[in-house]
Order: sequence, then C-alpha cells, then structure tokens
Amino acid sequence: MTVRKLFLLPGDGIGPEAMNEVRKIIAYMNAELGGSYETDEGLVGGSAYDAHGVAISEGDMAKAMAADAVLFGAVGGPQWDAVPYDVRPEAGLLRLRKDLELFANLRPAICYPALASASSLKPELVEGLDILIVRELTGGVYFGEPKTITDLGNGQKRAIDTQVYDTYEIERISAVAFELARTRKNAVCSMEKRNVMKSGVLWNQVVTELHKAKFSDVKLEHMLADAGGMQLVRAPKQFDVIVTDNLFGDMLSDVASMLTGSLGMLPSASLGAPDGKTGQRKAMYEPVHGSAPDIAGKGIANPIAMIASFAMCLRYSFGEIAQADALEKAIANVLDRGIRTGDIMAEGCKQVGTVEMGDAILAEFKSLMQ
Ligand code: NAD
Ligand code: IPM
Ligand code: MN
Repeated sequence: MTVRKLFLLPGDGIGPEAMNEVRKIIAYMNAELGGSYETDEGLVGGSAYDAHGVAISEGDMAKAMAADAVLFGAVGGPQWDAVPYDVRPEAGLLRLRKDLELFANLRPAICYPALASASSLKPELVEGLDILIVRELTGGVYFGEPKTITDLGNGQKRAIDTQVYDTYEIERISAVAFELARTRKNAVCSMEKRNVMKSGVLWNQVVTELHKAKFSDVKLEHMLADAGGMQLVRAPKQFDVIVTDNLFGDMLSDVASMLTGSLGMLPSASLGAPDGKTGQRKAMYEPVHGSAPDIAGKGIANPIAMIASFAMCLRYSFGEIAQADALEKAIANVLDRGIRTGDIMAEGCKQVGTVEMGDAILAEFKSLMQ
C-alpha cells in the first residue's frame, strides 16, 4: 500500500493536547487496520516563534507542501501578544492556508443528539442540526492589499484593511458549495453584504450566474450576512449549506459552534483545488477553536473537534469513508453514554479530561471497526 504522508502541526496551548488523542488513533490504524500513515511533525505559531523567530520555518513549510495532508492543532496565546505582526502565531496559520492555496474551508456544524441540551439555544431548535459552512479561505480582507497602519503625523494613525475578491475566487468557492449541497439537502444560502460592499455586489452576481449556468438544480437563496447571523440563532435548521467570504465565514462559524454545544466540537477541512493530473487536493485539517489559553495545560480540553477533523481527513484526503463514518459514530456513541469534557458537561453525565475522552472514543472506534 502506498504510504500516506501526514504532517502534524500541533501548535500552541491546547493544540498539542488535542493532537495527542489523534496520534493514538493513527497508531491504532497503522497497527491494526492496515493503515500506512507515516507521520512527521513540525512547529507552528508561538512554539515556532520561540524556536526560530518565525511563525513557521521554511523547512516546515516545505514539509507541509509535500504532505498528503496536514493536521493542524491551534496557535496563539497571550505570551506572544507583543511579537511583531508578521511573525505572530496566527501568521503561521495564514501562510499555510495561502501558500497551500487552501481556498475552501468546510466547517460542518452538527448537533449530536446527546448534546441538544448543551447548546445555548432551546433543544428543539438544534436537535438534528446538520449545516455546512463553506468559508472562502485565501482571499478577502484577510489578505487584500493595502493592509497598513500609517502615522498621519497629527497624533492620529490610520489603519487600512482591504476586502478584495476576483470573479474566479467567488466562482470556485461557490462551485464547492453547490457540489457539496448536491450530496446533502441540495440547498445553498449565500451570505454577503451587497447593500454596503462592492465585493458583496460582485459575490452576489457571480453566485447567481454560476447557479444559473451549472447548478440550477440546487436551491439557492441569498441573505445579507448580518441577517444570516440572526437567522442562524433564530432558526438554524432552515440552512443546509452556507457559502460566504473569509471574514463572515470566520464569525458565522463561531456562532454556529454554540449551536452544537461548544467550540470544542467543531472540526474543519481546508481544501485546495484538485490537481489536474492526479486529482489529489492539498489539504489541512484544523479545528475551528483556538489555543484556549484559559484552559491550556490543564488536561481538560475537548479533543472532539481535533478528532472529528481527522475524520474529515480520512473522508476528503483518503476516501476512507467507512473509517470516517465509524470515527464520527464513535464520537456520537461516547456522547450518548454521557461521557463529557467540562465544556459540554451536563447533569447526570460523567466528566472526564482530554485523555479519557480520547481513550473512550478510540475504544469505541476499535469496537466499531471489528
Ligand atoms: P479559543 O477558541 O481559543 O477559545 C474561546 C473559548 O472557547 C475559551 O473559553 C476556550 O476555553 C473555549 N474552548 C475552545 N476550544 C475548546 C476545547 N477544545 N475544549 C474546551 N473549551 C474550548 O479563542 P480565543 O480565546 O478567542 O483565542 C485564543 C487564541 O487562539 C488567540 O491567540 C487566537 O488568535 C487563537 N486562535 C487560533 C485559532 C487556530 O489556531 N485555528 C482559531 C481561533 C483562535
Ligand atoms: C479560525 C481562526 C483564524 C482565522 C485565526 C487564528 C487566524 O479564528 O481559524 O477560525 O481568523 O481564520
Ligand atoms: Mn475563527
């Protein structure tokens, strides 16, 4: 069997704690499921800054480029608040996304049945929730130029961030959303602010035209992004696939996380375009949450977002659909049994730490794979 190269970037804070739980699953797959995963590991974020003075070294960037898939933990923390902007921990993550051209970030928000009461919304609003936010990841205000702070010389400074989108960027992310919708409930809601932003006007036009030309079988709706945020909290089950830009996608996916019970539950896949010859996509799998400095080092972080991100890796990078399904089912079964980390703890449940949650999911995965 060909070797599958995984490059692990655990990062900072709870990143390494969550990644350890995925390492155990990979070891089991290699030992007992005939897996041929070869893992290498690098530094990103504050840990890379402390070691090399940059948010990711050139050597680790090259390894990320050469890998079949990158698994990313989390970066950042208050100890790096004062480091220069270009080498701050988050810059490592942004460089990986940009240089690997991972333009499509899939952020599924699924409310596991057992967690309906852990959401901040009424259980009936979130029970059975299964939405997919498709976030554009390599454009928009995150990367647009100019991006500057200028001294105006009169005691004032001016900060500029620039929102830029070209037709092809909107087209390719919308195509991903339409294609995925066809495998789900066949509905896409596109969110922008065409009432205020030129990029919103173009976004709306391009999505509408692409829909007409190639995806007219999919139900398409447009929503202003602020109203979309409101609708996500009012009646989240009205959505199937949401497609939106980099910044709105960042905010709306954090909102969606609370529908599922915790930010510690949300996985994501960041995908590039399929290679013309091999059909392979560059890919990085990253939880939606950050380094959670408030709980880092305590062994209490929820590893589910990281484990579910690995399930997405099995699905999207390696086509191991049965294994991905089983890993997701293992998570659901463990939650059904009332095993909980602190962030999703409920009355009558058993509170466990990161390692115990990882062990429980691995044990369940093993029994499902037998
Ligand atoms: P955060 O996601 O780190 O934490 C927000 C809250 O959610 C905290 O109370 C935290 O304890 C909780 N939380 C998050 N993940 C959890 C988990 N797995 N289990 C239990 N609780 C969890 O966001 P923040 O506090 O705004 O940011 C902290 C740092 O992380 C910042 O430096 C930020 O830039 C960075 N960040 C990184 C990423 C990433 O690496 N992908 C994503 C978001 C934020
Ligand atoms: C995320 C994070 C990142 C983003 C930061 C850490 C750069 O919030 O992945 O959601 O804003 O994209
Ligand atoms: Mn975010």
